[in-house]
Amino acid sequence: MGDQRPTNILCIGAGYVGGPTMAVIAAKCPHLKVTVVDVNAERIAAWNSDRLPIYEPGLDEVVRQARGRNLFFSTDIATGIREADIIFVSVNTPTKTFGEGAGCAADLQYWERTARQILAHSTRDKIVVEKSTLPVRTAEAMERILNSNGQGLRFDVVSNPEFLAEGTAIRDLENPDRVLVGSRETPEGVRARRAIVDIYATWVPRERIIESNLWSSELSKLTANAFLAQRISSINSISALCERTEADIDEVAYAIGTDSRIGPRFLKASVGFGGSCFKKDILNLVYICRSYGLHEVADYWESVVRINEWQQSRFVRTILANLFNTVAGKRIALFGFAFKADTGDTRESPGIAVARQLLEERAHVVITDPQALDNARQELEGVTGSVTFEPDPYRAAEGAHAIAVITEWSLYKTLDYARIFRSMEKPAFVFDGRNILDREALFALGFNVFAIGKKPLKHF
Ligand SMILES: NC(=O)c1ccc[n+]([C@@H]2O[C@H](COP(=O)([O-])OP(=O)(O)OC[C@H]3O[C@@H](n4cnc5c(N)ncnc54)[C@H](O)[C@@H]3O)[C@@H](O)[C@H]2O)c1
Repeated sequence: MGDQRPTNILCIGAGYVGGPTMAVIAAKCPHLKVTVVDVNAERIAAWNSDRLPIYEPGLDEVVRQARGRNLFFSTDIATGIREADIIFVSVNTPTKTFGEGAGCAADLQYWERTARQILAHSTRDKIVVEKSTLPVRTAEAMERILNSNGQGLRFDVVSNPEFLAEGTAIRDLENPDRVLVGSRETPEGVRARRAIVDIYATWVPRERIIESNLWSSELSKLTANAFLAQRISSINSISALCERTEADIDEVAYAIGTDSRIGPRFLKASVGFGGSCFKKDILNLVYICRSYGLHEVADYWESVVRINEWQQSRFVRTILANLFNTVAGKRIALFGFAFKADTGDTRESPGIAVARQLLEERAHVVITDPQALDNARQELEGVTGSVTFEPDPYRAAEGAHAIAVITEWSLYKTLDYARIFRSMEKPAFVFDGRNILDREALFALGFNVFAIGKKPLKHF
């Protein structure tokens, strides 16, 4: 890559990771030409339009800055591969739903297809970067496929897992805690790694760029997600005990979080974690541990997912128990359906489990969300029962017996709850699955208020 033309970067997979990541690289590195390709033509058309396919604060500005200058979105994968010097692969790696390892292992079919496409269209050496989250030692398989070419082409596989969080993706990309780049420790491997490090070093301070071997890099991503999710399941497990003992979960979280060894973040009790990554990555870790015969390690991490599922069901059981053991025919408004605030993403949202369980109990579920209603509709497609989608939270709550807060959108903190109370059936209930509302104020208005890990405030 010592010639005069700009380095061509290609990213295969224009999703929640590929799109924002490449937009930031292009914006920060005008000397690079960045192309993002995808098999999904509709998604690419949206990336080229004024209505981007994902909602992410700050994303529009970054895309506007670079698109057409050195950032391009295209469906022409073959040309993209041919022209690229460095290929980031950011395709989806969901949980397998069939065969060996179904419900646990990573489904690597999209990943392997990409490797074969790269092989089919390459006419010169390339660096291939694993951006997707993958099982440890995937790069070995990738190298075997790529270096099986009969043309003497050389492919160096580098691992560069993405740590961005949806909702803060642009901030995370512009100012990351760290960037991790792993490679083989051979001279060629280290040279490839340096090429990737150099891209990030354009805007990320060197001391925040960590270099490691390939396997450490791959495993660090799974481990980071497992640890983050574990903190949520840990605090959620204690929230259940708080509800039995009148300890207050926010007081407990604050008391333990001020210990610098523990730290305050990711200690917010809730209806449970969601998102496309935590569950899938932990189950992937569990599967890998089992395949190496490490059953105790597998059981340990699996319990993080089990507690999360239990917490979601526990939330529904609290609703049911307090609505006099029946919600059949009752209107229940779910405030929020995105798996977290500031995103329209609903993948693995606790809202899915809550809505399904309420529908099984024959409730009439009304879902409101400022960004996620289209995705919510898709998530619940084919589910039997009475479900409505309503953009306006006031209308969603009209005639409802209960409101259940699923997503911590800040707009829900500032609604006119006196007006909402007047429009609801009585007794009116609020189940705050995110502990964002002012419980005392709602109680004073007449609501019966239930929050996670808190003493209920009831009028009877
Ligand atoms: N979403 C997150 O917050 C996040 C954060 C860090 C890491 N990750 C990881 O990044 C990876 C991508 O996640 P995502 O959320 O962006 O997924 P996504 O489903 O939003 O995007 C993946 C894209 O890849 C495309 N694709 C699949 N096979 C292809 C092929 N052969 N050729 C071209 N395009 C193809 C799909 O059409 C899709 O648009 C996953 O491994 C995920 O675990 C995600």
